[in-house]
Amino acid sequence: MARISPSVLSADFLTFKDDIKEFEAAGVDMLHIDVMDGIFVPNISFGNPLIKSIKKHTNIPLDVHLMIDRPHRYIDEFAKYADYLGFHYEAGSDNVETLKRIRELGCKSCITIKPATPPESIYDLLDLCDMVLVMSVEPGFGGQKFLPSALEKLSKLRAECQRRNLDIELEVDGGINNETAPLAVDAGATVLVAGSYVFSAEDISAKIQEIKNL
Ligand code: DX5
Ligand code: ZN
Repeated sequence: MARISPSVLSADFLTFKDDIKEFEAAGVDMLHIDVMDGIFVPNISFGNPLIKSIKKHTNIPLDVHLMIDRPHRYIDEFAKYADYLGFHYEAGSDNVETLKRIRELGCKSCITIKPATPPESIYDLLDLCDMVLVMSVEPGFGGQKFLPSALEKLSKLRAECQRRNLDIELEVDGGINNETAPLAVDAGATVLVAGSYVFSAEDISAKIQEIKNL
């Protein structure tokens, strides 16, 4: 069964507390939180004050996806509330040091790759990762179409992890719905991020169950 991490980027934050209750009842595995700085990606979302509030209201593990330039500058701050803390391979930090620091701070470490980045680029970092996030859209916005090129990247990463006997979550983010989720799981994804698909639903719990059961 795939694990699900709804992306709160698509939430209405004035009613989000109700969504959290539904997520808890539906047994979501994590909450995916997209932090954007308007520099690494052409969009600005929110920062640690919101994450701190979410942490106060739920025990669901927080899966923080940093889309910010030189993320090492903010790792210590975000590690206060994150459970999984991920940043982009392409964002201009020392990736080895940043992954090590995330673990030192007690979080699960995650490196993220954009659609144009080959999976082989991160093979030498896998020993330092608890999770790898493969973007299946260009980072920056919800509601985009799934890029099928993510599937081959997931398969390659799955094979490499198996070959080296590494127990790493493989997460996929962008354009996940009832058609793309099974393809991603077949390719090796173990955690599915879903934003617009979940939040556009009349019945959020039913959508969560549908994806989890795929
Ligand atoms: C995009 C974000 C995603 C986004 C996914 O940069 O990283 O997490 O919220 O949204 P959907 O599921 O609508 O593609
Ligand atoms: Zn994301």
